[in-house]
Amino acid sequence: MAEVAKDQGSTPPRKVSYRKSKARWHPSMQAIPVPGIRRMVNLAATMKDVIHLSIGQPDLPTPKHIIDAYIDALNAGQTGYTMDAGLPELLVALRDYYGKRYNRKLTRDNILITSGATEAMYLAISATSTPGRQFIITDPSFLLYAPLIRMNGGEVKFIPTRPENNHQLDPDDVIKAMGPRTFALILNSPNNPTGAVYPRSTIETIVEECAYRGVQIYSDEVYDHLVFDDDDYASVLSCAVDLDNIMCISSFSKTYSMAGLRVGWVISSQAAIKSLRRYHMFTTSVANTPAQFAGVAALTGNQQCVRDMVNIYRERRDLIMKLIDETPHLTGYKPGGAFFSFPNLPAHVDGSDLALRMLKETGVCVVPGDAFGEDTANALRFSFSTSCENLEEAFGRIIPWMAKQGF
Ligand SMILES: Cc1ncc(COP(=O)(O)O)c(C=O)c1O
Repeated sequence: MAEVAKDQGSTPPRKVSYRKSKARWHPSMQAIPVPGIRRMVNLAATMKDVIHLSIGQPDLPTPKHIIDAYIDALNAGQTGYTMDAGLPELLVALRDYYGKRYNRKLTRDNILITSGATEAMYLAISATSTPGRQFIITDPSFLLYAPLIRMNGGEVKFIPTRPENNHQLDPDDVIKAMGPRTFALILNSPNNPTGAVYPRSTIETIVEECAYRGVQIYSDEVYDHLVFDDDDYASVLSCAVDLDNIMCISSFSKTYSMAGLRVGWVISSQAAIKSLRRYHMFTTSVANTPAQFAGVAALTGNQQCVRDMVNIYRERRDLIMKLIDETPHLTGYKPGGAFFSFPNLPAHVDGSDLALRMLKETGVCVVPGDAFGEDTANALRFSFSTSCENLEEAFGRIIPWMAKQGF
């Protein structure tokens, strides 16, 4: 392509040629996918009367005592950096909280406070992924894992989960998938996008096998409180004998509706935390200071607010299961936690294409399955982080529309 250069004083116009300027990004940037839902989000922004069942964060308000603690911290001048490992009061609160919840002896040196679980996951994966190392993840899985693994040269091995099986992870499949190159397994229960909650027997078998083989486990437990049918939540912290090959990652985002306050953490062996702490100093330095004070208030305050939120999500889960069952062409199941359902369409249907048409023709926005895996193109992710009224209204539009689709 050529362009006439701007006339500079008396010099005659000069013809310059250039290639369309293209940033010289590191090749690893290729591992970050072009988000499939971009077209939908752009379209939804131009439309009126859209019902979003695409939301990946809590819609319920942050409890007042947590907001007050955030504001109090600001008013008290808590606007500087904290210690690199995190606010000491929050480290102590997390140590005590996890110690009591899982009857596990932890010290402050087992914990690193991060900018949300996202930073914790970023640190854990990018500090360990490298060519020759294989990471096992479920298909579908949360959309950060595979790109982060691949950006750093690691190999992704998928284990499919299916709605017919409530998207449960079969420990035998995990064991069969492990080979000499397997370096780590990423667990996520309750799961995004499926809402599957793995029972204790699954986690125990996997934890034991990984310890035996020296395979690392990164367990993303951000939805650990949003569990609807079982009082016994199987954290890796309650199953592992020691933390040598375990990183438990979580945050305040979902349990306390604090997604925008950006506080998460990693719990692991003291040696692992020491290394991650150094890396953390060179990435985000520290997490948001007043938000860490808000986190202390969340952990040490009355937990009725969490129980109330879980009851609301459970009611919505029951409703969306019924509505999905009533929807032609969708195969549903029972999600045990989080706020997502991931039903299948008939095998040959392209979920991406269907979701776009559904948005255009009904004004309901969902996320196509291919955003979450390799073999999930015929699925759709429905979020029930929205009111029962919105769910009723959305399915009131979807059900007759789906009935007209001639698959
Ligand atoms: C499974 C899972 N892990 C991690 C995160 C990120 O959480 P945070 O807000 O703590 O960074 C999300 C957010 O949607 C998620 O769904």
